[in-house]
Amino acid sequence: MRGRRPLFVGNWKMFKTPEDTRAYVDAFRIMAAELVAQADIALAAPFVDLDALRVALEGSTIGIGAQDCFWEAEGAFTGEVSAPMLSALGVQYCIVGHSERREFFGETDETVSLKISALLGGNITPIVCVGETHAEHHAGTSFARVEQQLHGALGSLSDAERAAVVVAYEPVWAIGTGLACDAESADTIMNFIRRSAGGLDEARIIYGGSMKPANATALCAQPNIDGGLVGSASLDPAEFLSLISCGLQVLDAR
Ligand code: PGA
Repeated sequence: MRGRRPLFVGNWKMFKTPEDTRAYVDAFRIMAAELVAQADIALAAPFVDLDALRVALEGSTIGIGAQDCFWEAEGAFTGEVSAPMLSALGVQYCIVGHSERREFFGETDETVSLKISALLGGNITPIVCVGETHAEHHAGTSFARVEQQLHGALGSLSDAERAAVVVAYEPVWAIGTGLACDAESADTIMNFIRRSAGGLDEARIIYGGSMKPANATALCAQPNIDGGLVGSASLDPAEFLSLISCGLQVLDAR
């Protein structure tokens, strides 16, 4: 037994309005009723949908997630949203360092680290994304890149703080391409993540990058894969629940 509770997080990215959110949760809640006993399940939605999620999920143990936050608590930072603001909306998880934010919005290991500290201070679980690009993958520098990202993000944290984060290994070349990393290779690098950063024995490390119902069982059967950060396959409630069921066939058995 691994003793780590499985975790599946839907990353909706920039999809769905508050109205779409309500319709999704109406279907998802009923179908997820049995699965929530076996896993932590959360939906990471755009900021504008978080209140609709909060209302629609009232009385449910399905978690509310955000996709980014700013590290200051308040101030003259036009367009930003802080960890205390997210806490006030009942947010329990927040993705940080997603490759799309690194690529399009200038996220760096340094800003990821600041955001992690702000989130931990607000009792929100950071989901810290690391992963190599296509070029790094082919150059054979995946391990070095991931180690650098981990060091930048977690280097200043205590062991207790590290145990409270979730790390998502998301090879950039697998995100949104339909081509997931093969399960054994993902496990090898996720084992490296668990060992190299220190303090991550108890932390959950989840896989992201084209996780689907068809590959979730093989991925989750690996000893270092504790669940998934799921983009496109989370946009449809039935598909996301099918993926979670496939993962839990093996996660539950260990
Ligand atoms: P994907 O996205 O499942 O669509 O590949 C995962 C992610 O970007 O978190």
